[in-house]
Amino acid sequence: MAEKVIINDVGPRDGLQNQSKILLPAERIQLINKLLAAGLTHIEVGAFVSPKAVPAMAGTDEVAAGLPKGDYAFSALIPNRKGYELATAAGIRNVGLVIAASNTMNERNINMNNDRALAVCEDVLAQARQDGVNAQVYVATAWECPFEGQIDAAVVADLSEKLLAAGATEIVLADTIGAAAPAQVKTLLKPLVANLGAANLSCHFHDTRGMGVADVFAAVECGIRKFDASIGGLGGCPFAPGATGNVATEDVVLMLNQMGFETGINLAALIAAADLAAELTGNCDGGHSSRWIRKQIEKGAIAA
Ligand code: COA
Ligand code: ZN
Repeated sequence: MAEKVIINDVGPRDGLQNQSKILLPAERIQLINKLLAAGLTHIEVGAFVSPKAVPAMAGTDEVAAGLPKGDYAFSALIPNRKGYELATAAGIRNVGLVIAASNTMNERNINMNNDRALAVCEDVLAQARQDGVNAQVYVATAWECPFEGQIDAAVVADLSEKLLAAGATEIVLADTIGAAAPAQVKTLLKPLVANLGAANLSCHFHDTRGMGVADVFAAVECGIRKFDASIGGLGGCPFAPGATGNVATEDVVLMLNQMGFETGINLAALIAAADLAAELTGNCDGGHSSRWIRKQIEKGAIAA
């Protein structure tokens, strides 16, 4: 049997948080349903953050209320205890805390310095453990910070270790601005996988420099089997200048299929989801491979 790789589509959160056109909760649910129809089981459905900081994520409680029932891992990003309380009150059982590896990014993104951000994470992780809620933690700017430059791998290793010890169910290493090249991905991941275990780690790449898929490949080679990606390559962080969209889900799925991994995701249905993302946002170019995939669908070489 083929080895599995889990794809977590963050389009409905990372993809939509930075759009100039703010979608209605009903439209966000429509996009989530299209992703489910393509076989995705892991979806980040929104964020419980200050609506002043990220207006596009207001109404995530309404999105959560409209999610279909089933064996799905729906998650939401949270920056603090208030976010945790709102998320769990809305029925979310998988939360994603966020802390950057660099102080300036923490201050710009969540208005906390490193120490405060870590204390907040530890507090929420303890609560989540008590409540039986899965709490992953995004380590943002894990390779490079737009304000402080390259990040020392030892800082990320130390932070990841502390967060796992505090009860994080997974560390998501995030290249928030899409600055890492595959060799840098390996430099960070090899010792981390050896020390913390691949099962405790996942990766989140942005495609700013066109290296998103290459970075996923490098991480796969290091043993990582869980990735964030965003439908149509939507995405970007409002607080990280220069960041463009996440690596596109269709690009990642196509590569993993060709590598012989099992993702459970149908490419033709994924393209339909990318079309919907484009229609709703008016701002979604699709992945690098989407033109080729469309041709295969037309020829009948990829089943619709
Ligand atoms: N959800 C909704 N509202 C929240 C909130 C949350 N998780 N946390 C705080 N708030 C509200 C407070 O109630 C307060 O509201 P009020 O002005 O109506 O009284 C207001 O936000 C300010 O609260 P405060 O605790 O002083 O926060 P802050 O202004 O220092 O901002 C964050 C800190 C973390 C709330 C804010 O920076 C944030 O939401 N950042 C998220 C950024 C993000 O999503 N980045 C992209 C993904 S990595
Ligand atoms: Zn991101």
